[in-house]
Amino acid sequence: MEKIDLKRLPRHIAIIMDGNGRWAAQHTLGRASGHKKGADAVRTVVKTCREIGIGYLTLYAFSVENWLRPAEEVSVLMKLLEEYLNSELASMIENDIRINIIGDLEELRPSIRKALKEAMTKTAHCRTMVLTIALSYGGRDEIVMAVRKIAADVTRGKIVLAEISKELLSTYLYTATLPDPDLLIRTSGEYRLSNFLLWQSAYTEFYFTDVLWPDFQKKDLIAAIAEFQKRERRFGLTSDQVREEMKG
Ligand code: IPE
Ligand code: IPE
Ligand code: MG
Repeated sequence: MEKIDLKRLPRHIAIIMDGNGRWAAQHTLGRASGHKKGADAVRTVVKTCREIGIGYLTLYAFSVENWLRPAEEVSVLMKLLEEYLNSELASMIENDIRINIIGDLEELRPSIRKALKEAMTKTAHCRTMVLTIALSYGGRDEIVMAVRKIAADVTRGKIVLAEISKELLSTYLYTATLPDPDLLIRTSGEYRLSNFLLWQSAYTEFYFTDVLWPDFQKKDLIAAIAEFQKRERRFGLTSDQVREEMKG
């Protein structure tokens, strides 16, 4: 904890929670056990972020592409998600954490949709942290969805062509109410985005670690934040300009 400056925390942390299957294989267990252990890592990370004062935490739980996995694995993941929501709801409310879900929820089975809806409504008043779960989420699908909605609004005369801008497009995405992520962590030694927050991560700092998601602990999150705090975010400017801006 002393390794990080609590006054310069990333406002929004996004995590690609990867490596559950490989963790299970390492322990000669089935993939389902890896996902189960992964859910424990989620609890730890949510708790740590809330403790240190992260405003927004976004977790990639299931991609649109993940639907193509064996039906049995998909079913395990859905069951774990439902269990997670039901078991954590009281603690979310108690800790003032708002649950937000992004992705194509139409694809989900009714019992999960119900649990998700309940989690969102019952935490709608919470303000200290926003926990966004990306579920049946795809970055390209999200952009296509936004473009369709914009086109529909142009057709209906609600907006005109000249009004379409980066800022406007952002308001049509699932993440309309969220700031862009400052820090994106991916576990398990893979160096790719896998269709996560494509638009939103234009200037995000990336942090990759070999740690498999079920092994990810508080110290690993702290290490990622410490590394983030060493970076200089230039947004296209020169280093001198950035330092001038910091002073001014
Ligand atoms: C991440 O772990 C969980 C999901 C993608 C749902 P994986 O299941 O992808 O684990 P690996 O990559 O096979 O080890
Ligand atoms: C990305 O992991 C999706 C989630 C962590 C939910 P994958 O394991 O699906 O990604 P790829 O297939 O290795 O790129
Ligand atoms: Mg994976």
